[in-house]
Amino acid sequence: MKLKGKVAVVTGGSRGIGRAIAVRLAEDGALICVNYRANSGAADEVVQEINADGGEAFALQADVGSVEQLNTFFESLDAELTKRRGDHHFDILVNNAGMGGGGSITSTTEAEFDRVFATNVKGPFFTTQQALPRIKDGGRIINVSSNLSKHPLGRVLAYCMTKAAIDNFTVGLAGELGKRAITINTLAPGLTATELNAETRAIPGVEKLFSSITALGRIGRVDDIVGAAAFLASPESAWVTGQYLEASGGLGLVLPTPWE
Ligand SMILES: NC(=O)c1ccc[n+]([C@@H]2O[C@H](COP(=O)([O-])OP(=O)(O)OC[C@H]3O[C@@H](n4cnc5c(N)ncnc54)[C@H](OP(=O)(O)O)[C@@H]3O)[C@@H](O)[C@H]2O)c1
Repeated sequence: MKLKGKVAVVTGGSRGIGRAIAVRLAEDGALICVNYRANSGAADEVVQEINADGGEAFALQADVGSVEQLNTFFESLDAELTKRRGDHHFDILVNNAGMGGGGSITSTTEAEFDRVFATNVKGPFFTTQQALPRIKDGGRIINVSSNLSKHPLGRVLAYCMTKAAIDNFTVGLAGELGKRAITINTLAPGLTATELNAETRAIPGVEKLFSSITALGRIGRVDDIVGAAAFLASPESAWVTGQYLEASGGLGLVLPTPWE
Protein backbone atom coordinates (compact mmCIF):
# COMPACT_ATOMS: atom_id res chain seq x y z
CA MET A 1 0.00 0.00 0.00
CA LYS A 2 2.40 2.65 -1.28
CA LEU A 3 -0.17 5.43 -0.95
CA LYS A 4 -1.58 4.57 2.48
CA GLY A 5 -2.58 7.81 4.23
CA LYS A 6 -2.38 9.85 1.01
CA VAL A 7 -5.19 11.78 -0.64
CA ALA A 8 -5.53 12.06 -4.42
CA VAL A 9 -7.75 14.23 -6.65
CA VAL A 10 -8.38 12.78 -10.11
CA THR A 11 -10.10 15.13 -12.54
CA GLY A 12 -12.29 13.30 -15.03
CA GLY A 13 -12.01 10.30 -12.74
CA SER A 14 -15.45 8.96 -13.56
CA ARG A 15 -14.77 7.33 -16.94
CA GLY A 16 -12.03 6.02 -19.19
CA ILE A 17 -8.39 6.50 -18.26
CA GLY A 18 -9.19 8.71 -15.24
CA ARG A 19 -11.47 6.06 -13.80
CA ALA A 20 -8.79 3.38 -14.15
CA ILE A 21 -6.23 5.66 -12.49
CA ALA A 22 -8.66 6.47 -9.64
CA VAL A 23 -9.28 2.76 -8.99
CA ARG A 24 -5.54 1.96 -9.06
CA LEU A 25 -4.54 4.79 -6.70
CA ALA A 26 -7.32 3.64 -4.35
CA GLU A 27 -5.95 0.07 -4.48
CA ASP A 28 -2.58 1.58 -3.55
CA GLY A 29 -4.22 3.05 -0.43
CA ALA A 30 -5.14 6.65 -1.31
CA LEU A 31 -8.43 8.35 -0.47
CA ILE A 32 -9.75 9.46 -3.87
CA CYS A 33 -11.77 12.51 -4.91
CA VAL A 34 -13.37 11.59 -8.23
CA ASN A 35 -14.08 14.76 -10.19
CA TYR A 36 -16.52 14.66 -13.13
CA ARG A 37 -18.29 17.22 -15.28
CA ALA A 38 -21.78 15.94 -16.09
CA ASN A 39 -22.28 12.20 -15.75
CA SER A 40 -22.95 11.78 -12.02
CA GLY A 41 -24.06 8.17 -12.54
CA ALA A 42 -20.62 7.15 -13.82
CA ALA A 43 -18.94 9.00 -10.93
CA ASP A 44 -21.19 7.29 -8.37
CA GLU A 45 -20.38 3.93 -9.94
CA VAL A 46 -16.61 4.32 -9.56
CA VAL A 47 -17.01 5.59 -6.00
CA GLN A 48 -19.13 2.54 -5.17
CA GLU A 49 -16.60 0.23 -6.81
CA ILE A 50 -13.73 1.70 -4.78
CA ASN A 51 -15.67 1.67 -1.51
CA ALA A 52 -16.87 -1.91 -2.11
CA ASP A 53 -13.27 -3.02 -2.63
CA GLY A 54 -12.27 -1.65 0.78
CA GLY A 55 -10.97 1.70 -0.46
CA GLU A 56 -12.34 5.19 0.17
CA ALA A 57 -13.63 7.65 -2.43
CA PHE A 58 -16.15 10.40 -2.99
CA ALA A 59 -17.30 12.30 -6.07
CA LEU A 60 -17.35 16.05 -6.69
CA GLN A 61 -18.70 17.78 -9.79
CA ALA A 62 -16.98 20.66 -11.60
CA ASP A 63 -16.32 21.63 -15.17
CA VAL A 64 -12.58 22.23 -14.90
CA GLY A 65 -12.82 24.73 -17.76
CA SER A 66 -14.74 27.13 -15.49
CA VAL A 67 -12.85 28.99 -12.77
CA GLU A 68 -16.16 29.76 -11.07
CA GLN A 69 -16.96 26.04 -10.84
CA LEU A 70 -13.42 25.29 -9.67
CA ASN A 71 -13.86 27.79 -6.80
CA THR A 72 -16.93 25.89 -5.62
CA PHE A 73 -15.21 22.54 -6.21
CA PHE A 74 -12.24 23.42 -4.00
CA GLU A 75 -14.48 24.83 -1.25
CA SER A 76 -16.42 21.54 -1.23
CA LEU A 77 -13.16 19.55 -1.35
CA ASP A 78 -11.81 21.47 1.65
CA ALA A 79 -15.00 20.70 3.60
CA GLU A 80 -15.07 17.01 2.60
CA LEU A 81 -11.41 16.39 3.45
CA THR A 82 -11.69 18.26 6.74
CA LYS A 83 -14.68 16.09 7.62
CA ARG A 84 -12.90 12.85 6.66
CA ARG A 85 -9.31 13.62 7.69
CA GLY A 86 -9.47 16.72 9.91
CA ASP A 87 -7.33 18.59 7.37
CA HIS A 88 -8.03 19.96 3.90
CA HIS A 89 -4.58 19.32 2.42
CA PHE A 90 -3.95 16.59 -0.12
CA ASP A 91 -1.02 14.83 -1.76
CA ILE A 92 -1.65 13.98 -5.40
CA LEU A 93 -3.35 15.83 -8.26
CA VAL A 94 -4.02 14.01 -11.53
CA ASN A 95 -5.02 16.52 -14.22
CA ASN A 96 -6.72 13.94 -16.42
CA ALA A 97 -10.04 15.53 -17.48
CA GLY A 98 -9.92 16.07 -21.19
CA MET A 99 -11.99 16.01 -24.34
CA GLY A 100 -11.46 15.44 -28.00
CA GLY A 101 -12.76 18.01 -30.38
CA GLY A 102 -11.78 20.33 -33.05
CA GLY A 103 -10.97 18.89 -36.43
CA SER A 104 -8.59 20.08 -39.10
CA ILE A 105 -7.47 23.64 -39.77
CA THR A 106 -10.37 24.07 -42.22
CA SER A 107 -13.16 22.44 -40.24
CA THR A 108 -12.59 23.65 -36.65
CA THR A 109 -15.04 26.31 -35.48
CA GLU A 110 -14.22 29.00 -32.95
CA ALA A 111 -16.64 27.40 -30.48
CA GLU A 112 -14.97 23.97 -30.81
CA PHE A 113 -11.52 25.52 -30.46
CA ASP A 114 -12.55 27.40 -27.31
CA ARG A 115 -14.22 24.32 -25.81
CA VAL A 116 -11.26 22.00 -26.25
CA PHE A 117 -8.80 24.60 -24.98
CA ALA A 118 -11.04 25.38 -21.98
CA THR A 119 -11.14 21.76 -20.81
CA ASN A 120 -7.67 20.61 -21.84
CA VAL A 121 -5.53 23.69 -21.12
CA LYS A 122 -7.41 26.23 -18.99
CA GLY A 123 -8.66 23.33 -16.86
CA PRO A 124 -5.30 21.92 -15.72
CA PHE A 125 -3.84 25.43 -15.37
CA PHE A 126 -6.48 26.75 -12.97
CA THR A 127 -7.01 23.42 -11.21
CA THR A 128 -3.30 23.43 -10.41
CA GLN A 129 -3.39 27.10 -9.38
CA GLN A 130 -6.10 26.31 -6.82
CA ALA A 131 -4.47 23.04 -5.79
CA LEU A 132 -1.01 24.40 -5.03
CA PRO A 133 -1.77 26.00 -1.66
CA ARG A 134 -3.52 22.75 -0.69
CA ILE A 135 -0.97 20.18 -1.91
CA LYS A 136 1.47 19.11 0.76
CA ASP A 137 5.21 19.59 0.27
CA GLY A 138 6.54 16.40 -1.32
CA GLY A 139 3.31 16.02 -3.31
CA ARG A 140 2.74 14.86 -6.86
CA ILE A 141 1.12 16.41 -9.93
CA ILE A 142 0.48 14.26 -13.02
CA ASN A 143 -0.66 15.98 -16.21
CA VAL A 144 -2.30 13.67 -18.73
CA SER A 145 -1.18 14.68 -22.19
CA SER A 146 -1.07 12.51 -25.32
CA ASN A 147 1.40 10.95 -27.70
CA LEU A 148 -0.16 13.41 -30.20
CA SER A 149 1.53 16.35 -28.43
CA LYS A 150 4.81 15.33 -30.06
CA HIS A 151 3.37 13.65 -33.17
CA PRO A 152 0.43 15.90 -34.11
CA LEU A 153 -2.16 14.87 -36.66
CA GLY A 154 -3.71 17.57 -38.86
CA ARG A 155 -7.06 15.78 -38.58
CA VAL A 156 -7.34 16.79 -34.90
CA LEU A 157 -5.05 19.78 -34.86
CA ALA A 158 -6.57 21.85 -32.05
CA TYR A 159 -6.62 18.80 -29.74
CA CYS A 160 -2.94 18.13 -30.45
CA MET A 161 -2.13 21.77 -29.71
CA THR A 162 -3.82 21.52 -26.30
CA LYS A 163 -1.63 18.58 -25.39
CA ALA A 164 1.56 20.36 -26.51
CA ALA A 165 0.52 23.18 -24.16
CA ILE A 166 0.25 20.69 -21.28
CA ASP A 167 3.75 19.35 -21.95
CA ASN A 168 5.04 22.92 -21.78
CA PHE A 169 3.08 23.57 -18.58
CA THR A 170 4.73 20.57 -16.89
CA VAL A 171 8.25 21.64 -17.75
CA GLY A 172 7.61 25.30 -17.00
CA LEU A 173 6.27 24.60 -13.52
CA ALA A 174 8.71 21.87 -12.45
CA GLY A 175 11.50 24.29 -11.53
CA GLU A 176 9.22 26.36 -9.34
CA LEU A 177 7.72 23.41 -7.47
CA GLY A 178 11.07 21.77 -6.75
CA LYS A 179 11.68 23.95 -3.71
CA ARG A 180 8.63 22.31 -2.14
CA ALA A 181 9.71 18.84 -3.30
CA ILE A 182 6.54 18.63 -5.34
CA THR A 183 7.10 16.71 -8.57
CA ILE A 184 5.13 17.40 -11.74
CA ASN A 185 5.27 15.08 -14.72
CA THR A 186 3.46 14.46 -17.98
CA LEU A 187 1.86 11.10 -18.67
CA ALA A 188 1.19 10.63 -22.37
CA PRO A 189 -1.04 7.75 -23.46
CA GLY A 190 -1.21 6.63 -27.06
CA LEU A 191 -4.48 5.59 -28.69
CA THR A 192 -6.42 3.93 -25.86
CA ALA A 193 -9.91 2.46 -26.20
CA THR A 194 -12.31 4.85 -24.43
CA GLU A 195 -15.49 6.74 -25.30
CA LEU A 196 -13.37 9.77 -26.21
CA ASN A 197 -12.23 8.16 -29.45
CA ALA A 198 -15.07 5.69 -30.08
CA GLU A 199 -15.98 7.42 -33.35
CA THR A 200 -12.40 7.38 -34.62
CA ARG A 201 -11.94 3.73 -33.72
CA ALA A 202 -15.19 2.90 -35.51
CA ILE A 203 -13.68 4.03 -38.84
CA PRO A 204 -12.82 0.80 -40.68
CA GLY A 205 -9.11 0.05 -40.59
CA VAL A 206 -8.17 2.54 -37.84
CA GLU A 207 -7.46 0.03 -35.07
CA LYS A 208 -5.59 -2.23 -37.48
CA LEU A 209 -3.46 0.65 -38.73
CA PHE A 210 -2.58 1.89 -35.23
CA SER A 211 -1.83 -1.67 -34.11
CA SER A 212 0.48 -2.16 -37.09
CA ILE A 213 2.63 0.88 -36.20
CA THR A 214 2.80 0.05 -32.47
CA ALA A 215 5.78 -1.90 -31.14
CA LEU A 216 3.57 -4.02 -28.87
CA GLY A 217 1.16 -4.70 -31.73
CA ARG A 218 -2.19 -3.38 -30.49
CA ILE A 219 -3.93 -0.24 -29.31
CA GLY A 220 -4.08 0.53 -25.58
CA ARG A 221 -6.59 -0.43 -22.92
CA VAL A 222 -7.16 1.83 -19.92
CA ASP A 223 -5.43 -0.68 -17.64
CA ASP A 224 -2.27 -0.30 -19.72
CA ILE A 225 -1.92 3.29 -18.49
CA VAL A 226 -2.34 2.84 -14.74
CA GLY A 227 1.07 1.37 -13.91
CA ALA A 228 2.83 4.49 -15.17
CA ALA A 229 0.36 6.70 -13.29
CA ALA A 230 0.88 4.69 -10.08
CA PHE A 231 4.64 5.09 -10.40
CA LEU A 232 4.40 8.87 -10.92
CA ALA A 233 2.08 9.11 -7.89
CA SER A 234 4.29 6.99 -5.66
CA PRO A 235 7.23 7.75 -3.36
CA GLU A 236 9.43 5.90 -5.88
CA SER A 237 9.24 8.75 -8.40
CA ALA A 238 10.52 11.34 -5.90
CA TRP A 239 13.60 12.11 -8.05
CA VAL A 240 11.64 12.37 -11.32
CA THR A 241 10.22 15.75 -12.25
CA GLY A 242 9.49 17.78 -15.37
CA GLN A 243 9.49 14.56 -17.42
CA TYR A 244 7.35 13.18 -20.25
CA LEU A 245 6.44 9.52 -19.79
CA GLU A 246 4.74 7.95 -22.79
CA ALA A 247 2.52 4.91 -22.18
CA SER A 248 1.61 3.92 -25.71
CA GLY A 249 3.06 0.45 -26.30
CA GLY A 250 5.57 2.11 -28.58
CA LEU A 251 3.13 3.88 -30.91
CA GLY A 252 4.92 5.03 -34.06
CA LEU A 253 8.01 2.90 -33.48
CA VAL A 254 7.14 0.46 -36.24
CA LEU A 255 7.45 1.90 -39.73
CA PRO A 256 5.85 0.13 -42.67
CA THR A 257 8.71 -1.11 -44.86
CA PRO A 258 8.46 -2.14 -48.52
CA TRP A 259 10.56 -5.33 -48.10
CA GLU A 260 8.24 -7.08 -45.61
N1 LIG B 1 -8.30 7.70 -25.00
C1 LIG B 1 -7.18 8.01 -25.65
O1 LIG B 1 -6.82 7.40 -26.69
C2 LIG B 1 -6.28 9.07 -25.12
C3 LIG B 1 -5.00 9.17 -25.67
C4 LIG B 1 -4.14 10.14 -25.19
C5 LIG B 1 -4.54 11.00 -24.18
N2 LIG B 1 -5.80 10.89 -23.67
C6 LIG B 1 -6.17 11.83 -22.62
O2 LIG B 1 -6.56 11.08 -21.47
C7 LIG B 1 -7.50 11.84 -20.70
C8 LIG B 1 -8.73 10.99 -20.43
O3 LIG B 1 -9.32 10.65 -21.68
P1 LIG B 1 -10.33 9.43 -21.84
O4 LIG B 1 -10.06 8.83 -23.16
O5 LIG B 1 -10.34 8.60 -20.63
O6 LIG B 1 -11.72 10.26 -21.97
P2 LIG B 1 -13.24 9.82 -21.64
O7 LIG B 1 -13.35 8.35 -21.61
O8 LIG B 1 -14.05 10.60 -22.60
O9 LIG B 1 -13.47 10.39 -20.15
C9 LIG B 1 -13.35 11.75 -19.94
C10 LIG B 1 -13.49 12.05 -18.47
O10 LIG B 1 -13.20 13.45 -18.26
C11 LIG B 1 -14.35 14.09 -17.73
N3 LIG B 1 -14.44 15.44 -18.28
C12 LIG B 1 -14.49 15.82 -19.57
N4 LIG B 1 -14.54 17.15 -19.68
C13 LIG B 1 -14.47 17.63 -18.40
C14 LIG B 1 -14.48 18.92 -17.84
N5 LIG B 1 -14.56 20.02 -18.60
N6 LIG B 1 -14.41 19.03 -16.49
C15 LIG B 1 -14.35 17.93 -15.70
N7 LIG B 1 -14.34 16.68 -16.18
C16 LIG B 1 -14.41 16.54 -17.51
C17 LIG B 1 -15.53 13.21 -18.08
O11 LIG B 1 -16.60 13.43 -17.15
P3 LIG B 1 -18.16 13.45 -17.66
O12 LIG B 1 -18.45 12.08 -18.19
O13 LIG B 1 -18.94 13.77 -16.44
O14 LIG B 1 -18.23 14.50 -18.73
C18 LIG B 1 -14.89 11.83 -17.94
O15 LIG B 1 -14.79 11.46 -16.58
C19 LIG B 1 -7.79 13.10 -21.52
O16 LIG B 1 -7.00 14.16 -21.06
C20 LIG B 1 -7.37 12.69 -22.93
O17 LIG B 1 -7.04 13.80 -23.72
C21 LIG B 1 -6.68 9.94 -24.11
